[in-house]
Amino acid sequence: MTKTKFKNLALGGFILAAFVSQTGCKPTDLSKENLIPKPVSVVATGSSFDLTDQTDIYVQGEAAELIQIGQFLADKLNPSTGLGIEVKTTIEAPGPGNIFLSLSGTDAELGNEGYELTITDKSVNLVANQPAGLFRGIQSIRQILPSRVEMADKQKGPWKLATGTIRDYPSYGYRGSMLDVARHFFGVEDVKNLIDQLAYYKMNVLHLHLSDDQGWRIEIKSWPNLTAHGGKTEVGGGEGGFYTQEQYSDIVKYAQDRYITIVPEIDMPGHTNAALASYAELNCSGKATELYTGREVGFSTLCTNKEVTYKFIDDVIRELAALTPGEYLHIGGDESHVTKIEDYIPFMNRVQDMVIAHGKKVFAWDEIALATLKPNTVVQYWAKAENAVKGVEQGAKVLISPAKYAYLDMQYDSTSTYGLHWAGYVEVDKGYNWDPANLEPTIKKENIIGIEAPLWTETVGTREEAEYLIFPRLLGYAEIGWTPTELRSWDEYKIRLANHGERMKAMKISFYPSKLVNWDAKDKK
Ligand code: ACM
Repeated sequence: MTKTKFKNLALGGFILAAFVSQTGCKPTDLSKENLIPKPVSVVATGSSFDLTDQTDIYVQGEAAELIQIGQFLADKLNPSTGLGIEVKTTIEAPGPGNIFLSLSGTDAELGNEGYELTITDKSVNLVANQPAGLFRGIQSIRQILPSRVEMADKQKGPWKLATGTIRDYPSYGYRGSMLDVARHFFGVEDVKNLIDQLAYYKMNVLHLHLSDDQGWRIEIKSWPNLTAHGGKTEVGGGEGGFYTQEQYSDIVKYAQDRYITIVPEIDMPGHTNAALASYAELNCSGKATELYTGREVGFSTLCTNKEVTYKFIDDVIRELAALTPGEYLHIGGDESHVTKIEDYIPFMNRVQDMVIAHGKKVFAWDEIALATLKPNTVVQYWAKAENAVKGVEQGAKVLISPAKYAYLDMQYDSTSTYGLHWAGYVEVDKGYNWDPANLEPTIKKENIIGIEAPLWTETVGTREEAEYLIFPRLLGYAEIGWTPTELRSWDEYKIRLANHGERMKAMKISFYPSKLVNWDAKDKK
């Protein structure tokens, strides 16, 4: 139906009422849209903009980056709407009926990822300081449209956007998730799928846990046996797998195109059995270990007193740094239960220097705060608040991932199909109802770089199994990272979350249908 025809139809109130009941269309109110994460500010003006077959996406100037962002939006809208929306460039604002993406660079409050979206009955105008802000803003455009816009095949219109203005920017600069590809290997397509899901909820980091006792997942050309041998196993005895450097670079680029940074982790000195099984010389005994497919942790360590260990680490860090456009490399450091503390501390100090020498900053799990933190090292708080506090006392920033709130592998309750519960059960409300800046008096907002929700994969080996644990909790973590705490409440969030049930189904996400959420409250647009 074209816009003109729709307007004519709307002239008769009776006919309009019949139309409304037939199509499930409702009056539009931008402030009632079910955006996740919730925007900082929404002012509704009570009308609507119709996407039609006349609508195009205009981007300001000829910059390839803006054209790519416009094309990303067109590629999301066209399969379901069938409107054949094209991307065009322009200097001036386009005529009525179009979407316009432009950079302004003068609105300090919006920062690098913020945006202002102004929708009138005549136009959709998205402005940001940086391309990343435009990319975050187009996710809001997608979420204001009916959930069927996310379907892969053609759906019935109308395609209305409620009018008003959204001004929006994140609370934290780091909003991430982690995928453990070591306990179970996940292929390139699964990782890309997760990246798309993170992007939809305005998250900006995917941390990949690339090595552990059960498998080594990234090709290191100078130590080929790491993957040739150490990549062949996973928990439960499956065939494992690894990324070639080319495949890994493809993931990194895919993420970059979505304004998402990949943070690679090589865990050390513990969690290293796959390396110890691949190279005998890394063991203090000089003998290679057996490959391992169990779930226990804390039994392995690199030989911290051998020089070859540091040659090995330097080669790994050099190759990984060359594949990493992001600022950070993660060096693990957790649960090294069989490394003596007097060996652990100098080891972590030396490896931090190696990361810095290769031009990167260090991330590590909270145990690293037992060592001497180098400038810019970030402490990832997962287990012990006292370690995170030690990090702050050394002047470090903290990444907030407490297992009892933010671990995606914790079961929802005692009936959960997958997951573990060593840190407790994390129902969807518990995962949402906390504030990173209010966990410890010493760890204040200014000490926090952001939040991350890790998925450890001892119990899940397929995309569907992983999604059961990731969704719907990921949406809550995205909101904790983006939305100011004072704007968040579980009672209001659970209604928006219910409406995302339809969206997640449209995107074919196998989410856990928590009983705490009334999923039947369908998106009625
Ligand atoms: C961890 O969960 N061992 C960081």
